[in-house]
Amino acid sequence: MQLHPTARSRSMADPRFIPWAKPDFWGKEQEYVVEALTSTWISGGPFVDRFERDFAAFCGGGHVLACSNGTSALHMAYLALGIGAGDEVVVPGFAFLAVANIALQLGAEPVFAEVDPGTWCLCAGAVEAHISPRTKAIVPVHTYGNVCDMDGILELAGRRGIPVVEDTAEAFASRYGGRVAGTMGTIGTFSFQATKTITTGEGGMVVTADERLRDVMALYRSHGMLRKVFYWHELAGHNFRLTNMQAALGVAQLERIDTILAERRRVRELYESYLDAIDGVTRQQVTAKAEPVVWTMALKLDPRAYPQGRDSVMAQMRDAGIETRPGFRAPRQMPHIYRCPPLPISEDISRQVICLPTYPTLQNDEIQCICATLAGLRK
Ligand SMILES: Cc1ncc(COP(=O)(O)O)c(C=O)c1O
Repeated sequence: MQLHPTARSRSMADPRFIPWAKPDFWGKEQEYVVEALTSTWISGGPFVDRFERDFAAFCGGGHVLACSNGTSALHMAYLALGIGAGDEVVVPGFAFLAVANIALQLGAEPVFAEVDPGTWCLCAGAVEAHISPRTKAIVPVHTYGNVCDMDGILELAGRRGIPVVEDTAEAFASRYGGRVAGTMGTIGTFSFQATKTITTGEGGMVVTADERLRDVMALYRSHGMLRKVFYWHELAGHNFRLTNMQAALGVAQLERIDTILAERRRVRELYESYLDAIDGVTRQQVTAKAEPVVWTMALKLDPRAYPQGRDSVMAQMRDAGIETRPGFRAPRQMPHIYRCPPLPISEDISRQVICLPTYPTLQNDEIQCICATLAGLRK
């Protein structure tokens, strides 16, 4: 497709500035939030139950629990699996690092495995080498909306008797072999933070087919208390609850899910048509059997085409009025927190990836302009 560069110089205050992400509320979000407020049910309430019901229906069943964010969803999952001091969890070397941080919070050790150089996601081959008698969970992260090699990971986990926690924060509504991402492992976790495919401002969800795990997570979500017995703590729990107002947003977002997904598909397809014509950029490869809902359009910049480096390209894009994001940092860059061996593939992705604006109301001419600007920065 032909690209027409446009001369632009836009500050963030300029209405034509293109942000990296933007939540969209086209449906009954406002109506439902006001309904929640006027009902005076502002902590828990009927919208929380409804959001859980609708979410479970979207997933095709399973037990679900709404919670305060994607990090608390991981926390609940790890707690329910009994992960604690001295245990290990295998996590990707390239991903948002909440999966490692919660392990550390619990006194466990995150063990970083290489990701696949094409899909940038965890695959079974790299995980197996890191399994030890202390491994308490394998935690694939479905990065940027792609889905990890779940056939391989589930086969390995089944063979070794290890639970799988799917971090689906970035991949709500993505599928793998027709199955909804987050529903294939022992527990799936989701985030509804402002930039995510559906949002409640802050919010999260856990999904599991295991009723016992669901019950333990429900206890950890709410002070370890059973609702029916006042102030009796079964265990030392947290407060990971979602509010009724936030759930009201979630219900309205799910009502519009078909439109949200259709618009994200339009954005992805148009990006692909432009980007595939630019030498020096490589898109994240879709895992075999995966049908991703792309959370952010992510690319690797070839240093020969962009010798100024990814960070300078980001600054140049910003000068042109386009906000982008870098790839996640490699854990080895933060030795004050993480113990991580050299992982050349993950580190290379981390250095070279740039994430382009991706959201349902991103206009076709804006996508054209973003791609033309990026193409124009090649040396
Ligand atoms: C892969 C992944 N896991 C977990 C989280 C944490 O979710 P939250 O921000 O809702 O706590 C995020 C990010 O925002 C994420 O991208």
